[in-house]
Amino acid sequence: MSRSLLSLLPVLLLLLLLPPIGAFTSPTPNLRSSTSLRSKPLKLIITGAPASGKGTQCENLKVKYDLKHLSTGDMLREAVANGTPTGIKAKEYMDSGKLVPDTVVCGIISDSLSSCATGFLLDGFPRTSSQAETLNSLMHDNGLGSIDCVIYLDVNEESLVERVTGRRIDPETGNSYHVKFKPCTDPEVTQRLIQRSDDTEEKVKVRLQEFRANVDAVNGAYGDKVKTVDGNKSVEEVWEQIREIVDKV
Ligand code: AP5
Repeated sequence: MSRSLLSLLPVLLLLLLLPPIGAFTSPTPNLRSSTSLRSKPLKLIITGAPASGKGTQCENLKVKYDLKHLSTGDMLREAVANGTPTGIKAKEYMDSGKLVPDTVVCGIISDSLSSCATGFLLDGFPRTSSQAETLNSLMHDNGLGSIDCVIYLDVNEESLVERVTGRRIDPETGNSYHVKFKPCTDPEVTQRLIQRSDDTEEKVKVRLQEFRANVDAVNGAYGDKVKTVDGNKSVEEVWEQIREIVDKV
């Protein structure tokens, strides 16, 4: 063997020992973690009747999947509290349990989506077929593709009324409690808890009518991306169902 070939021997041996190209770039699919190795940001919608538990489950979802939580109810309440032009337009609708006009709601969601290149979780939007169409165009215009999954919390009416009327909010932190299902244990917080102005038995009837009038059209816009969850169960059991669905998206 020539001297030059001998000097190349260590390099040739190294090449033989190296794994084939691609072994580092394509990990075994079943070893992928649902969160850390997700190739695309998740785009989720959570939907359901008033007090079906959307906000409660969003707390888990946004942490586990690192999502930006976009709740139109929270945005509108903030606008009302700050007396902004949007808040002034929305207030009378919200106080009566009616849906705020599509143009007003789509305006606030448009602002939030344009700065949302990472994953997001829409809570309480879209609520009408027209809002679903607007969302579609907004996502297209912002290069966000399409919605991955719609989680629909299905809860019976009797439970909804009980959840609405028993809900209490801490005005300082925005944290939500329930007199029976999630009582507040801090006496100082308990004495400042308030009830949302639309959380009465009378208003929830209007909110439910609005919900029933639109639910089929909204869910229909997403076809088999809609995954129904039994929302009558405990918070933990509902979360287990949601986690299983989202892990497979
Ligand atoms: P919004 O704030 O979105 O109200 P909503 O849809 O009626 O939903 P809620 O916030 O009442 O309930 P939730 O499903 O989040 O339940 P939560 O987890 O808090 O909208 C308010 C208003 O804004 C609308 O009426 C409308 O006017 C306007 N608006 C908003 N978006 C709009 C849009 N897109 N278009 C037009 N108008 C719009 O749980 C409720 C209670 O139950 C809590 O006390 C909780 O502790 C308890 N709970 C939760 N899960 C469970 C469980 N599994 N078991 C027992 N208790 C539970």
